[in-house]
Amino acid sequence: MASYIPYWNYKDSVCDFLQTIFPQVIMWRSLRLISALGLCTSALAQSSTVDSYMSTESPIAKAGVLANIGPGGAKSSGAYPGVVIASPSTTNPDYLYTWVRDSSLVFKMLIDQYTSGQDTTLRALIDDFITAEANIQQVTNPSGTVSTGGLGEPKFNINETAFTGAWGRPQRDGPALRSIAMITYANWLIADTNETYVIDSLWPIIELDLDYVMNNWNETTFDLWEEVDSSSFFTSAVQHRALRQGSALATAIGQSSVTSGYNTQANNILCFLQSYWNPSPGFMTANTGGGRSGRDANTVLTSIHVFDVEAGCDGVTFQPCSDIALSNLKVYVDSFREIYGINTGIRADQAVATGRYPEDVYQGGNPWYLASFAVAEQLYDALIVWSNEGSLIVTDVSFPFFQQFDTSITPGTYSSLTPTYSTLTTAIKNFADGFVAMAAKYTPSDGGLAEQYTRSDGTPTSALDLTWSYASALTVFNARAGNTSASWGAAGLLVSPACSTSEAPTVPVVFNVNATTVLGQNIYLTGSVGALTDWSTTNAILMSSADYPIWSTAVTLPANTQIQYKYIIVDNSDITWESDPNNEFTTPTSGITTLDDVWR
Ligand code: NOJ
Ligand code: NOJ
Repeated sequence: MASYIPYWNYKDSVCDFLQTIFPQVIMWRSLRLISALGLCTSALAQSSTVDSYMSTESPIAKAGVLANIGPGGAKSSGAYPGVVIASPSTTNPDYLYTWVRDSSLVFKMLIDQYTSGQDTTLRALIDDFITAEANIQQVTNPSGTVSTGGLGEPKFNINETAFTGAWGRPQRDGPALRSIAMITYANWLIADTNETYVIDSLWPIIELDLDYVMNNWNETTFDLWEEVDSSSFFTSAVQHRALRQGSALATAIGQSSVTSGYNTQANNILCFLQSYWNPSPGFMTANTGGGRSGRDANTVLTSIHVFDVEAGCDGVTFQPCSDIALSNLKVYVDSFREIYGINTGIRADQAVATGRYPEDVYQGGNPWYLASFAVAEQLYDALIVWSNEGSLIVTDVSFPFFQQFDTSITPGTYSSLTPTYSTLTTAIKNFADGFVAMAAKYTPSDGGLAEQYTRSDGTPTSALDLTWSYASALTVFNARAGNTSASWGAAGLLVSPACSTSEAPTVPVVFNVNATTVLGQNIYLTGSVGALTDWSTTNAILMSSADYPIWSTAVTLPANTQIQYKYIIVDNSDITWESDPNNEFTTPTSGITTLDDVWR
């Protein structure tokens, strides 16, 4: 590989030439018909493939989004006005529901398009969205009423009634994302001299969500993939963003009574966010529970959804070009290199198909379009900021990321006038384009974007016409074109010096379980938080049998937190779980708790 870089120009011209004869040069490369050249990752050929994908896919994606919004959307009949369906698919999976997360991310994109002047026709649709979500907020559902937790309900029927089936609930990213979308609109309305409407109509809706975030961010939540009940990086990060923006909006419209509460909790969340960092090998653990590797598109999505072009490469808010976010991107991407057939043979410094997380099995656990686009978007965002700043910085943390593009790189600051800066940014642009090209390669000829494309041969699969997939295409295209969304106040934020995750309040808990065992068997404890090994069976906590048949242990747990746990019997490598459901309790804010359980 060492000889690779010096041949750039040669390769570019070869590939350029091939590109003119074979527009599908990407395809040719994958077929290895020209593998003798060993090289046709030609930045130029790929770049023009992505250019043309952008121009054909953009209108298709936009139409795809609009088709999925009621009442006029071509594929969303039955959806109330402003209600976004996740996908028209009604079987395997049935996505003909409206999710607060998907809807809010989709409308954030539409609101950005409207407020930036990119599409001035969207006003009525945005107002429909606001009305729909205001209605949905008031619908009593399995998570509660509007004032008892109902705002955390993840999904509703498309006629704005409650979905009452079993589900992973609550999902506390929803209210945060919804308020971020609405605050973006509110800020524009204020600048457009429509402050009265904001104060009278919009603020009460936004405030409900922000108060929910302020009061509940510290509670466990199902993650954005609706599977793991713990704390989740994406959720915490968007909650932080929502409270910052909410506080600024409140100040702007004279609602200052809420600001100190919002600011206090925003500071606390910012503090908590730092604790997800995993220094070796340098990535954000997506969830505090779940018992997985922790590498997850959750974190890449976080970086693009908290991007603030004014915030430089700040790591504290996980900006796309921060050293930790770049290191995280590499660790996340690399976790898919070996597991998907379609990634076989792709060089270690080239883009691959990526999905939610490597352990995923949902609907085949395939690559997701929105995950592959998110990687590219993070990199395009980074390129925008480096260009604005006129330099980029390589730290010891981001070193492995940059080393992919220049094996001789050393940590330091590289001004945009240096050849190193050009080498790196050119290669990173190419790398980013590779992720779009990957999704493009597996986009069917009609441009439809499903949820996933199969790991074996890239056939679109799972929900067809996923609204969020289309929205993610539009946002990555926008970033590639150098466009950014309005700032949200991330610039200059600092983690309070008093904030240290080790100071998060904890309480001692004694676990006693009465369990009859035979010789050779031991009882272990495992559960939903890190101190209970995140449901690990291999690292579970061995209990003492000194008072047999009472098995006992003491553990320090986060205070004021809902905990789930089970005892397991381990007999050599045989594991017997206690029967369902999980044991559950909430730790107090202080004092010793003793749990006296009986094995079941
Ligand atoms: C449905 C959810 O939408 C999906 O994210 C999850 O993976 C499956 N349920 C399995 O829990
Ligand atoms: C499953 C995904 O995991 C979840 O994030 C999404 O909200 C739903 N599908 C609906 O698209």
